[in-house]
Amino acid sequence: MRIIIADDYQEMSRRAAAMVSSQVILKHDSVLGLATGDTPLGMYKELIKLYENKEVDFFDVSTFNLDEYYKLSIENKQSYYYYMNHNFFRHINVKKENTHILNGMAKDITAECRNYDQQIKNDGGIDIQVLGIGANGHIGFNEPDVNFEAETHLVKLDEMTIEANSRFFSSKDEVPTTAISMGIKTIMQSRRVILLASGAGKADAIYKTVNGKICPELPASILQLHPDATIIIDKNAGKLLSDD
Ligand code: GLP
Repeated sequence: MRIIIADDYQEMSRRAAAMVSSQVILKHDSVLGLATGDTPLGMYKELIKLYENKEVDFFDVSTFNLDEYYKLSIENKQSYYYYMNHNFFRHINVKKENTHILNGMAKDITAECRNYDQQIKNDGGIDIQVLGIGANGHIGFNEPDVNFEAETHLVKLDEMTIEANSRFFSSKDEVPTTAISMGIKTIMQSRRVILLASGAGKADAIYKTVNGKICPELPASILQLHPDATIIIDKNAGKLLSDD
């Protein structure tokens, strides 16, 4: 596990964008695993700048998003479908048909999940997976007490996640209590993983991800076993690491 401690959020975002863009520059038809949340927004802005400066071309790229709320329509501004189109896809030249986001409205969720894993495999597997982290150590929507062997599946959201994500909704009651998420197995099968974190609120989760016991209570701890994982964090998220 490599750890990059950036001075601030901007530098964290630039470092992450550099890793993703170099992946695409070196392999034009790369398969990108993408994340949502506040943390990767700066990285998406940097990638858009690189695209506008003609330093990277997304024409042959395909993407798979980590997760989506269950039963939230794609028109809902809190859906990750909306987030991705609004914050990234519409600003670059990726082909719409090459962007994949789990359909939280699918009638048969089990089939939706199986098809998603199969599509990832058909596209050759994920070359680089971007991850954020919840304060409780979740990655994607894989909450504490996760089953490390699960592929894409329906998950029940942790109380702490519902509380944290309520900032995006007008009330806590509106936050979906379930979601579909790539499983830990899906994430671990990616060739490279980069995990981003910013702010002191993530410091404890980052400390346990790097130094803690590998256990289902802290889902991100499994990344200690990934052969090519890089953690890119700002100083605040890394503040508990520097004493070691
Ligand atoms: C959400 C997402 C995760 C994200 C995490 C942290 O619930 N499902 O993929 O990494 O929470 O979000 P943020 O970056 O806004 O702190």
